[in-house]
Amino acid sequence: MPVSHPASPAHPSVGFVDHLERSNPRLDLEHDVRAGLTATPKWLPPKWFYDAVGSDLFTRITRLDEYYPTRRELAIMRERAGDIAAASGADTLVELGSGTSEKTVLLLDAMAAGDSLRAYTAVDVDATTLLKAAGRLAARYPGVAVRAVRADFERHLALLPRDGRRMVAFLGGTIGNLEPAARRAFLKSLHDTLRPGDTFLLGADLVKDRARLVAAYDDASGVTAAFNRNVLHVVNRELGADFDPALFEHVALFDEDNEWIEMRLRATRDMRVRIPALGLTVSLADGEEIRTEISSKFRREGLKEELGDAGFAVQRFYTDPAGDFSLTLAAV
Ligand code: SAH
Ligand code: AVI
Repeated sequence: MPVSHPASPAHPSVGFVDHLERSNPRLDLEHDVRAGLTATPKWLPPKWFYDAVGSDLFTRITRLDEYYPTRRELAIMRERAGDIAAASGADTLVELGSGTSEKTVLLLDAMAAGDSLRAYTAVDVDATTLLKAAGRLAARYPGVAVRAVRADFERHLALLPRDGRRMVAFLGGTIGNLEPAARRAFLKSLHDTLRPGDTFLLGADLVKDRARLVAAYDDASGVTAAFNRNVLHVVNRELGADFDPALFEHVALFDEDNEWIEMRLRATRDMRVRIPALGLTVSLADGEEIRTEISSKFRREGLKEELGDAGFAVQRFYTDPAGDFSLTLAAV
């Protein structure tokens, strides 16, 4: 185990490092909330959905009938994990925004079957989910170095372990939650941290029928609405704010021009919200919205172009039979 990854007390077989704690996540949240809630229109970044409750709500989303991306990506993996493992030639998997690492098992199994699996590094902002998943995988793959890195993939890519021949996986369509400029910056800095022989495996949701897209983000049982409102609970708990999440309506719409889903929280009356940690009071008018997430939907050519602009060369492009979701394997 590298010295920079001492064992996690909860999971002795998992190396754990917390780059987030070192960089003071509280200041980061304060900055984002002040910037977002004093802007016009108001916004909050989706990163703050994911405390332990938000991660559990996301897991429930992945099981909803309406939410097809997880099932589709899993279907591609079932068919193609062996091909991906062989084409990458990787002995080390690094996964960004790994969450529960559920789909990852298919990739790790394929690497292990090819006798090439040496190490797995899971990277996420939510320590609870991260450590649980890493503990489970350490037990499943004895002899493999399993590391849990609590880090922000927009800020800490350069700090991730660089040993081995790496495949960096970014699954689930999470790339779509970055604004286009942030996405460009992310792809470029990821490319800068990789070496010849390393690869990038990118899961991206594809443009499709608007009604299916909107339903995936506005499910009948209200789980996505609860996930959306969770960001207000996080701001209340961490910054002592007095948002009443029940006074916000969940909004999901498809922006045809940008080809992205937008999630918003719409105030259902005039209100003033106090945020003591910031010494700030925010006024919202009845009907005013806070944008909480974009989820971009992609086309094959666009993905190739964006990856190419960052220096990547597409090696493989896979979709499920319905053409709903994509996995791209790219070389540096
Ligand atoms: N990859 C999993 C989970 C996707 S949910 C899947 O495909 O199902 C998005 C995950 O990214 C969450 O676990 C969330 O905690 C994490 N995440 C969101 N923003 C992040 C950031 N800036 N840095 C690191 N992890 C982040
Ligand atoms: C994590 N990410 C890819 C999800 C998505 O589909 O954009 C987050 C999500 N938001 C609402 N439902 C799921």
